[in-house]
Amino acid sequence: MLETKKFRVGIIGVGAIAQACHLPGYLKDERVQLVAFADPEPERHKEMALTFGEMRGYAHYRDMLAKEKLDVVSVCTPNKYHAEAVIAALEAKCHVLCEKPIATTLKEADLMIAAAKKARRKLMVGYTHRLFNGPKKCKELLDEKVLGKPFMIRVRFAHGGPFPGWAKSDWFYKKDLAAGGAMLDMGIHAIDLCLWLFGPIVALSAKALTLIKKIEVDDNALLLLEFKSGALGYIEVGWTSRPGFSGIEIYGTEGSIICDYTRGVYLVGGKAAAGRDGRNDWKTLDKSPTEGGWSTEIGYWLDIVSGTEKLTMDGKAGREALEVALAAYKSSQTAKRVAIG
Ligand SMILES: NC(=O)c1ccc[n+]([C@@H]2O[C@H](COP(=O)([O-])OP(=O)(O)OC[C@H]3O[C@@H](n4cnc5c(N)ncnc54)[C@H](O)[C@@H]3O)[C@@H](O)[C@H]2O)c1
Repeated sequence: MLETKKFRVGIIGVGAIAQACHLPGYLKDERVQLVAFADPEPERHKEMALTFGEMRGYAHYRDMLAKEKLDVVSVCTPNKYHAEAVIAALEAKCHVLCEKPIATTLKEADLMIAAAKKARRKLMVGYTHRLFNGPKKCKELLDEKVLGKPFMIRVRFAHGGPFPGWAKSDWFYKKDLAAGGAMLDMGIHAIDLCLWLFGPIVALSAKALTLIKKIEVDDNALLLLEFKSGALGYIEVGWTSRPGFSGIEIYGTEGSIICDYTRGVYLVGGKAAAGRDGRNDWKTLDKSPTEGGWSTEIGYWLDIVSGTEKLTMDGKAGREALEVALAAYKSSQTAKRVAIG
């Protein structure tokens, strides 16, 4: 019997997300041979020698790409380096999974999209939240038009912020390396979910401020979204307010979905307003809304590379969410509503 050729995989940037999601995901997939990694930080090479000793390590990804004839590459560097690393990997004829946000400017995103087209290779952006059970259920119900006309979406994500021992350095808090704070880090997931679930955003108003942490970038942000459909949305993200609601609420003329990341996904039947008795009918749809995500992302990505799954989190999706995030910073700085597109 002919043995199927395995995908030769390399990772650019082997910090926290590479070690928690990408490497374990590739390791458990039989379609893959983990070949090499590139990271300028000597400490990473020591960590990799302990856990992934069979992978060759390079200080610079250009050397890795020139020597290793890779098929698939994950780019897991700080945001500032996504574009140059992704373009180099595409030029080396690799399929590329790029961590979010796709880039730090729209010009970079355009160059990445053009490079993927030219190389005829796939470029996926790591919008992990789309792979959690909860958001998947929201999408399914909206596609089935269970809610009637959806008119409002709320997304709130909050945690304590990147900290030492999670990210391998404090680059998340540096404007030059991250390009933005909570709004670009968690907000990009929230924005992507809004676009995925509700369609194009035509205008927004936003405020992104550094309220609590002594850092260069925003630690809290609020966005008010206007959708092409006429619906409204709002996003709240923060690196300082962990205990509150985390998840998605969607309101439609015939019902609502409450996707509470810590409790479950509920379909609330009937009109959005409670009946005369003040009660709504709550039906539990899923008790594990955050199952999936990081643990399934790499398998999903390899299905896309293999051609058995359709690519939807592509460069265009990466660019669309980045455009909204950058417009939100502009709105915050100018104190003005900003039109998009
Ligand atoms: N999908 C998600 O939900 C999710 C979660 C966490 C992080 N991320 C994203 O993943 C990326 C990395 O975040 P992290 O938490 O792993 O950070 P990290 O600091 O832990 O790791 C980044 C690694 O990149 C290396 N690096 C820096 N410059 C490099 C270069 N030019 N070439 C190669 N490697 C380089 C660093 O030495 C470090 O090891 C960010 O873009 C972040 O937004 C996504």
